[in-house]
Amino acid sequence: MSPLLITDIGSLVGTHPKNISVLKGREMNTLPAINNAWILCEGGLITGFGSMDNLPADLPTSFTSVCANGGYVFPSWCDSHTHIVFAASREEEFVMKIQGKSYEEIAVAGGGILNSANKLQSESEDHLFESASIRLSDMIKLGTGAVEIKSGYGLTLDSELKMLRVIRSLKEAFKIPVKASFLAAHTFPEDYKNDHKGYIKLIIDQMLPKVADEGLADYMDVFCEKGFFSVEETDKLLEAGAKYGLPPKIHANQLSVSGGVQVGVKHNAISVDHLEATDEDVVSCLSKSNTIATLLPSCSLYLGIPFANARSLINADIPVALASDFNPGSTPSGNMNLVVSLGCIKLKLLPEEAINAATLNGAAAMQLSDITGSIAIGKKANLFITRPMSSLAYLPYSFGQSQIEKVVLNGELY
Ligand code: NIG
Ligand code: FE
Repeated sequence: MSPLLITDIGSLVGTHPKNISVLKGREMNTLPAINNAWILCEGGLITGFGSMDNLPADLPTSFTSVCANGGYVFPSWCDSHTHIVFAASREEEFVMKIQGKSYEEIAVAGGGILNSANKLQSESEDHLFESASIRLSDMIKLGTGAVEIKSGYGLTLDSELKMLRVIRSLKEAFKIPVKASFLAAHTFPEDYKNDHKGYIKLIIDQMLPKVADEGLADYMDVFCEKGFFSVEETDKLLEAGAKYGLPPKIHANQLSVSGGVQVGVKHNAISVDHLEATDEDVVSCLSKSNTIATLLPSCSLYLGIPFANARSLINADIPVALASDFNPGSTPSGNMNLVVSLGCIKLKLLPEEAINAATLNGAAAMQLSDITGSIAIGKKANLFITRPMSSLAYLPYSFGQSQIEKVVLNGELY
């Protein structure tokens, strides 16, 4: 692999000191950058960067050179919450939503997560891998350079393992860091509709040992929500996950203030995700913890549910991350450029805050900030080059479009 030198960068964005692994609340307004810059990548890592005025004389003897022509360079998006392994799209539900049905009504009518679970049962591992690969390649072209992927459309031992094995194959096939979350507790399968204890026992006694034995997951996820998993059930599941070394990253407060944030924090969750519903207790609980609040504004947009109160979280110095939630039901999009724009437009994040939330804090929400999420010597050379832009704010301002011209993964043009 030949070294890569990028020159004439309008602005090299996200040059945080390497020891900063997460930005809390008001710190998120700081996004260091070098104008008129260069960056050198060798052996897949960032090995140098600086101002064009100080381009070093001792460059490697041979290297690939790319002139950014005034385009900006950003660290790749770190998308810390997705469900991209699924068997089929659900546009029939999209039409039901247009006709006025709510997310809960669609679930009761046989749609929702169970719909995806039924479709996934009969799908082969190879097909699931192929379709998820297409989604992941599309996301990479849109600037994503690290991703978390959840199970949760299996809901049986075999199908949950099938999903997690697909995620493992994605990890092996793609050049970007991939983390896996075990989400058998996504909803109760039909057979256990009236036997919640039985399904929880199945997860704890049969699924978790297998998942851990094969090393298939990094995190434990639960959909803690009215009509899904209660706080007590979540508590039990997170405790069981911890015994197998799986820290929580959970779905909390999507449809109501469910107690999910508190039970997540109790178990030292890496992140609590969604938070479309919050109150003062939620903010106060998070402000006393190290748990990251991961917000998913494209889910709010698509479902027509409230947007999270990001400003109250930031004012309380809570670290906020932004992620796509790409899934067939509530967010059929993995476009992090749109997520960042929505972060600004609907969550009232400043461009600097939204970009930090989608890069360094997203990396932290996957425990990856030592290797990615910012421009620092020794970090992975995962980045993207934009068209020339008039300012940083142009990126989220030009919503619904991508300014990305080139993607670099491990120091190579993708
Ligand atoms: O994050 N809320 C739970 N899970 C997904 C949606 C799942 C689905 O509808 O398929 C979410 O929005
Ligand atoms: Fe989700």
